Amino acid sequence: MVPTSSTVVPNHVAIVMDGNGRWATKRFLPRIAGHKQGVDSLSRCVQACLDRGISVLTVFAFSSENWNRPAEEVSGLMELLAYSLSKEVPSLNANGVQLRFVGDRTRLSEKVQAGLAQAELDTSANQRLIFNVCFNYGGRWDIAQAANRLAVRGEAITELSLDREMALAHVPDPDLLIRTGGELRISNFLLWQAAYSELHFSDKLWPEFDEAALDEAIAVFRTRERRFGKTSAQVSGRSTNENTKAA
Ligand code: IPE
Ligand code: IPE
Ligand code: MG
Repeated sequence: MVPTSSTVVPNHVAIVMDGNGRWATKRFLPRIAGHKQGVDSLSRCVQACLDRGISVLTVFAFSSENWNRPAEEVSGLMELLAYSLSKEVPSLNANGVQLRFVGDRTRLSEKVQAGLAQAELDTSANQRLIFNVCFNYGGRWDIAQAANRLAVRGEAITELSLDREMALAHVPDPDLLIRTGGELRISNFLLWQAAYSELHFSDKLWPEFDEAALDEAIAVFRTRERRFGKTSAQVSGRSTNENTKAA
C-alpha cells in the first residue's frame, strides 16, 4: 500500500538552526555559549532523526555571510566545529551516520579542512542516516560553483547538468525545511534544492528545539498536500483522466 501523507516521515529534513545567539543573550551569556548549546541540540536532533527513520538530515551551521560577524564569534565557531568533530564522530559511527560537509572549504584553515576530510572518511561506509553539515555554505555559492564546473568542462548548462554538480547531488531534495528562531526567511540556504520543500517555521530558538518540536514539524508536514504543480484531484487520485493521473 502506498503510504498516505498522514503516515509518512519526510525522507530528507533540512534545518536552518537559528537562534543560538538570542538563547545566550537572554541568559546574559556570551553568544558562543549559545552555539555550544546548539551543538548539544544538534546531537539530540540527529538521534531523533535516527529514531524516526529519517534518511537524510541537512543542517545550516555557518553561512557564506556569517564571516561578517565579529572576528571573535567567527573564530569561536571554527573552534567549535573542530572540537565537535572530534567529540561526535565516534557516536555518529556507532549509530550508522554518514557525515558530509557541504560548502566552500577553501577558506577554512588547513587543520579544519583535514579534520573534515578525516571525519567524512571515518563515517563514509555508514548508511543509516546521511548527515549533511552545511558550513561556509550559501545557496548562491552552490549554484555558481556548479555552473562554473560545467563551464570549465565546456558542458551545456541545463537543469539536469546543474543538479548533478550541486553540492547536495548525493541526496534527493529536502521534503521538509525547518527554520527555528522565528525568522521567516531562507537566508541563502538551499535555494536550488528547496524548490518544492514544505516549509515550517518554528519560534523556538535552536538550543530549545527538541524532539517534541521536531514531531510537531513532522505532524504539520503530514497535513500538507504536495502537488508539484499538479492539481489536487490529480495527486489525490480522484481524477479519472489517465493523462492527468498523479505520477
Ligand atoms: C544560528 O544562530 C547559528 C549561526 C548562524 C552560526 P545565530 O547565531 O544566528 O543566533 P541569533 O539569530 O543571533 O539568535
Ligand atoms: C542563517 O542564520 C545561517 C545559519 C543558521 C547558519 P543567520 O542568523 O545568519 O540569518 P539572518 O542573518 O538572520 O538572515
Ligand atoms: Mg541568526
